[in-house]
Amino acid sequence: MADSLPVEALSIAHAFAYVDETKGSDETGNGTLEAPYQSAVKAIQAHGDTVKVQIWKPAAGEEAEGYSLISGAALKKAVKKVAELEKKAKKIAEQAAEQAAKDQAATEERERILEAAKAVVLKEDTSLPAATKIKIRDSVKNRGKRVRVSGWVHRLRVQGKNMIFVVLRDGTGFLQCVLTDKLCQSYDALTLTLESTITICGVINELPEGKSAPDNHELTVDYWECVGKAPGGDEAISNKVNENSDPSVKYDLRHLVLREEKASGILKVRSQVMKGFRDHFDNRGFVEVTPPAMVQTSVEGGSTLFELNYYNEKAYLTQSSQLYLETCLPSLGDVYCLAESFRAEKSHTRRHLSEYTHCEAEMAFISFDDLLDQLEEMVCDVIDRVLAHKPSADIVYKLNPDFKKPERPFMRMNYTDAIQYLKDNDIKKEDGTFYEFGEDIPEAPERAMTDKINRPIFLCRFPAEIKAFYMKRCPENPLLTESVDVLMPGVGEIVGGSMRISDLDELVAAYKREGLDPSPYYWFTDQRKYGTCEHGGFGLGVERFIAWLLNLHTVRDTCLYPRFTGRAFP
Ligand code: 4AD
Repeated sequence: MADSLPVEALSIAHAFAYVDETKGSDETGNGTLEAPYQSAVKAIQAHGDTVKVQIWKPAAGEEAEGYSLISGAALKKAVKKVAELEKKAKKIAEQAAEQAAKDQAATEERERILEAAKAVVLKEDTSLPAATKIKIRDSVKNRGKRVRVSGWVHRLRVQGKNMIFVVLRDGTGFLQCVLTDKLCQSYDALTLTLESTITICGVINELPEGKSAPDNHELTVDYWECVGKAPGGDEAISNKVNENSDPSVKYDLRHLVLREEKASGILKVRSQVMKGFRDHFDNRGFVEVTPPAMVQTSVEGGSTLFELNYYNEKAYLTQSSQLYLETCLPSLGDVYCLAESFRAEKSHTRRHLSEYTHCEAEMAFISFDDLLDQLEEMVCDVIDRVLAHKPSADIVYKLNPDFKKPERPFMRMNYTDAIQYLKDNDIKKEDGTFYEFGEDIPEAPERAMTDKINRPIFLCRFPAEIKAFYMKRCPENPLLTESVDVLMPGVGEIVGGSMRISDLDELVAAYKREGLDPSPYYWFTDQRKYGTCEHGGFGLGVERFIAWLLNLHTVRDTCLYPRFTGRAFP
């Protein structure tokens, strides 16, 4: 078949090349009748300017007239175009060859320099005073002395052949270091990369006015060595993950993201927040307990339980340690815990995690008002404690410059009034109707209300049907419970708490109402049997508290390695 002939055979055999400007193709055509080219230029390029170019010429009004020889003017134009294209292609090829030669020369020159650099051996000058090993957090008090600091290359700026600026990071702070002359000419200096680990010796000096660096000082290096080189090129950390990376890439590479200033800053504040809660409770005589994570009873309903096979028995990851805390009251008095809670949340929201740190407390012989006062006191005291720690306060105000301590007393609003508020402010359900008494107020309207009021709200006294089985009813209205959600602008609910049913019969009735088998709860029920008391407590989501404090978009960024739907790695 003609279209299977090679192009050369075709031009020799027929000396014709067929061109159809509408149906032909310069990419897949070969100039035969079956596979014409699209342009005369291509025909000449493929077969030379002696080929007889046949052009498809549809006649007016008719389907087609057939092929006819190209006109003299059109042929001349096509030949000229071919010559122009050839000239251009030649120029591009020349330029590419020139660039390749330049690149080759640059590579050779770099290799030569690197080879020569291997001969530059850095030695610590033993005539200098012995260097004291320090962490970067102690750098201000060690100014003027010779120090030895180890860390990771956080930033790297090469300025000519004789100066390299390194910002060193060791987890306790950042330190600008300047390498000069021979120190910049060793093989390690020329191949230094971000995230490499190095040890540096020298003297830290305050910077003159007009220059800036972390802590306003700079280490003038007299000796340094590379401990572990990080990769450059495609494997360089900045090519793996950066601020523009997709969120899923950032979570896959969370171990690298944690090295960033913002991510590590959040974790540092988190550490102080946890300490703040512990100090708050310790100061008030609460005892810290560590309840089990593997349990066989639900606290907050069955829908968010993570089930596990426990030696061939059904068990769950705990949703809340509350029930265990309640059992501690008779032996330890007021108690608290900072423990992981687990929720098999199907919702993919920015405030839901599958595993979160739950700060829970339980107090005996209190009233509902005592509970609310304790909660307000705790939130404010923990904020004060975090802000009293200068490095944390610096991070808080850097990430959330407009942060203001909440005004006391917190607004206290009943659920019934919230339903009215939603109506008064035209906050409706998706179907356009208003929320009515007895309905749960979901995340969206709750946030709309909280953001509008723009201050912490204690939302109190929810109807019993929409709350957990253990909540005590209000003496003044048994339809309601002595319950509270703490709502914060930007985040929404950060705390859920309540007074607990103290009466044995009432609790038994509650199990029945909720369809719960009381037998696995015997130990919880016994609290009402062996000396009951009015008691209450709450649980605060540490991640939500931090997201509020630092004005973060999602609670996921407050965790070391967040766990949410579809992610239990790394
Ligand atoms: O309101 P919750 O479900 O209350 C309890 O678990 C009670 N047993 C606590 C108690 O009284 N001891 O949860 C309490 C808080 C919420 O206000 C929220 O801050 C946090 O725990 N929380 C979550 N945080 C992140 N992701 C989730 N999936 C969360 N579920 C609850």
